[in-house]
Amino acid sequence: MSPVNPFHDPVRFARRVPECVVVIFGANGDLTKRKLMPALFRLAYDHRLPEGFAVIGTSRTPMSDDQFREKMREAVREFSEDTEFDASVWEPFAQGLFYVAGDIADRDFYQRLCHKLHAIEAERHTGGSVLFYLSTQPSQYGRAAAGLGAAGLNKGNGWRRLVVEKPFGHDLESARALSAELQQVFPESEIYRIDHYLGKETVQNILAFRFGNGIFEPLWNRRYVNHVQITAAESIGVEGRGAYYQETGALADMIQNHLLQVMATIAMEPSASFRADAVRDERSKLLRSIKAMKPDQMRMDTVPGQYGPGRIGTEEVPGFRQEPGVDPQSQTNTYAAATFFVENWRWAGVPFYLRTGKRLAKRVTEIGIQFNPAPLAIFNNEDTSDMAPNLLIVRIQPQEGLSLKFLSKRPGTGMTLRPVSMDFNYGSSFGERLPSAYETLLLDAMIGDATLYTRQDMVEASWTVVEPIRNLWRESKFEFPNYAAGSWGPAAADEMLARRGHIWRKP
Ligand code: BG6
Repeated sequence: MSPVNPFHDPVRFARRVPECVVVIFGANGDLTKRKLMPALFRLAYDHRLPEGFAVIGTSRTPMSDDQFREKMREAVREFSEDTEFDASVWEPFAQGLFYVAGDIADRDFYQRLCHKLHAIEAERHTGGSVLFYLSTQPSQYGRAAAGLGAAGLNKGNGWRRLVVEKPFGHDLESARALSAELQQVFPESEIYRIDHYLGKETVQNILAFRFGNGIFEPLWNRRYVNHVQITAAESIGVEGRGAYYQETGALADMIQNHLLQVMATIAMEPSASFRADAVRDERSKLLRSIKAMKPDQMRMDTVPGQYGPGRIGTEEVPGFRQEPGVDPQSQTNTYAAATFFVENWRWAGVPFYLRTGKRLAKRVTEIGIQFNPAPLAIFNNEDTSDMAPNLLIVRIQPQEGLSLKFLSKRPGTGMTLRPVSMDFNYGSSFGERLPSAYETLLLDAMIGDATLYTRQDMVEASWTVVEPIRNLWRESKFEFPNYAAGSWGPAAADEMLARRGHIWRKP
């Protein structure tokens, strides 16, 4: 008889959205168009939303409900990559879309929002539960939460939740200050900090892979794992976000949140149950176990980069300093790499190499878990130099899947070995469409499942890791640009691995 499944949790597995209204702040912005509305439409398409479901869009731009519906219709048509625009799904969905114009700083706006909510509740029987989604300028988060609180919108008949987009502060202190502002109005348990990487199917699959199988976990430690590489490479540049990006940089934009969360998922201890806080406790513990670096070590084990002009495929592209809105002397990092160590019994001494960058050779996000080689090389043959030890690759995007590399005997009379791989590919194994991260995460927030959301203690733990690096980089002057667009990043990042006898994989 198999033991009781510790992950069984009926709330987590019954994916039915209860009656509710979603209120989007910043509904005239890019995120609403590109991600939120297509995700909500897809949930409607998949019959996951309740009958009276409604969305209220808000922003400063004056618009009628009908104009908002029309705008969202265009957005869904343009940005729903793999969902057919089915008018018979759209029409009833669009009837649930409403709009309230107003300024986040204006008290009257919250009163109007309140009236609209009451009217919708009465008309569509939405039951009083509301999800407030802040997709505005981060500097407005505190003000929006305070406005909701002052109007009494943080309490009602049903639940009231707040979803916030990153960045959660720009350092530890501002992250704490933001959190204090939000927590004055909503309890921490109702604050959902979104990290869209955690909503990616393959990142979630790390949990299934590790804790749903019996054969991998025994190998998942310092005895067998040689090192781990986490790469999030993008071939795009800053895409018109030069001014924002100049203030942020790759370290804060990607490592502080997405990559450290991925690392925590790969390295955390098994949680005793699949309840949100049990899983989040383990992720948080892992983040808090990342070893703090002294400045000397930081100089060796972290590498900033900035791209110069180069070529992506056949296209000539400008360097970061030539992008619109960017200072021609900018010291902003568009590439960041770091070596982290985890101070616990499972991982002591195992390097975790993280890297991310804009304008790299291609778009790929993957985790490589490099296992130790066999203790004794008994096959004395000419291929020895190429003999890659065992490597497990978790491909987060594109071509989501897993691949395990190992040595095999080459057919023939001799005893020659060659690396081969065993592949699992989502597309061919399941033949099903993968939901977008925003579909998963919006559904989770409406259900009240915070497993994939970032808790304040995790935000603080990641800033504790990243802030000293950021400060050191800010105080230093770098010879930028130090990598050409279309390359795999600065040579210093290769040297960082070479010092421990490792090389970056070229995905
Ligand atoms: C965002 C960053 O959080 O993630 C962007 O702000 C980055 O700079 C993006 O391009 C990458 O997300 P994805 O899902 O395309 O890997």
